[in-house]
Amino acid sequence: MTDVTVAHAMGSEPPRAPSGAARLLMPTGGAGLAAHVERLGARPFGSPPLISEIARSGLRGRGGAGFPTAVKLNAVAGRRNPIVVANGTEGEPLSAKDKTLLLRSPHLVLDGLALVAEAVGASVSVVCIDRSATRVASAVEGALAERRAAGSDRVAQEIRLTPTRYVVGEETALIHWLNGGDAKPTTTPPRPFERGMGGRPTVVLNVETLAQVALVARFGAEWFCRAGTPEEPGTVLMTVGGAVSRPGVYEVGLGSPLTTVLGSAGVAETSVAVLLGGYFGTWMPATGMRSRCTTCGSPGRSFWLPPKSPTGNTSSSIRNIGNTGPG
Ligand SMILES: Cc1cc2nc3c(=O)[nH]c(=O)nc-3n(C[C@H](O)[C@H](O)[C@H](O)COP(=O)(O)O)c2cc1C
Repeated sequence: MTDVTVAHAMGSEPPRAPSGAARLLMPTGGAGLAAHVERLGARPFGSPPLISEIARSGLRGRGGAGFPTAVKLNAVAGRRNPIVVANGTEGEPLSAKDKTLLLRSPHLVLDGLALVAEAVGASVSVVCIDRSATRVASAVEGALAERRAAGSDRVAQEIRLTPTRYVVGEETALIHWLNGGDAKPTTTPPRPFERGMGGRPTVVLNVETLAQVALVARFGAEWFCRAGTPEEPGTVLMTVGGAVSRPGVYEVGLGSPLTTVLGSAGVAETSVAVLLGGYFGTWMPATGMRSRCTTCGSPGRSFWLPPKSPTGNTSSSIRNIGNTGPG
């Protein structure tokens, strides 16, 4: 039994590990704190052994680069007064996975933020949401109010509403904006873990990554690895849109063929190219549909889009980026 599973005994409800690939999105019963705890049990407290459990799980960031999460946490854990930032900005116009997760399961993300903040010894944590995503911002504000009333978290959680810009989600741009500057990437070093928000060591994690942390903390690394592949364990959220009958956000085990996600979205087969990874992604020919879902194999967030017209999508991508420059 690991330290992490020992911590389960502190919760009032026994945990019920989700079976199958549907792990992250609250299926029914509303997104409130009571329904969340009813479904998954109370969260354990975060402590340094949680970082070891995350390392054992093999969790990689779901924000695009697929970097090992435990390595990022260890980089700030030994430092003075670190800050944890939850990146829910999702500036990529073709992606809805982070917004959907925050709407459906805000407490899972906030549990992950609290657990990480406790594990690395932070005294402040921040969740960043695109200010134009007003429903998402309200859902998170409501969830934060519920948690404050319930006294759920030892480390204060703050929300910041970010400008609607593609690059604001890039971590150095986000930190520059949080520090009062433009939402533009800065040169490194220093890296955020050396000098970030307010000059303090900062770790920026995607909101889906944090939700996965909240599940690893409850149910352990072995359970986490029951989905996915040995190289890339766990599940991943994918946004599917365009010429499909059921556009939406789907959760699949890593390593699943893209055809599985297409099938969930109502497409038996496609004869057109698919845009994989969003505006900075790549067009994949129909012959590539046997490729498998990865966290870092596709540029940007892990999602893909069967378009009606590749040229139409390319021109609308360029138009959008032109309209929402970095500043
Ligand atoms: C141009 C650009 C845009 C990005 N946008 C986002 C974003 O919207 N959300 C996000 O979580 N990460 C985004 N990232 C990645 C972040 O810089 C960072 O790697 C990520 O938030 C770290 O979280 P993770 O380790 O959990 O993946 C972007 C990176 C680049 C280069």
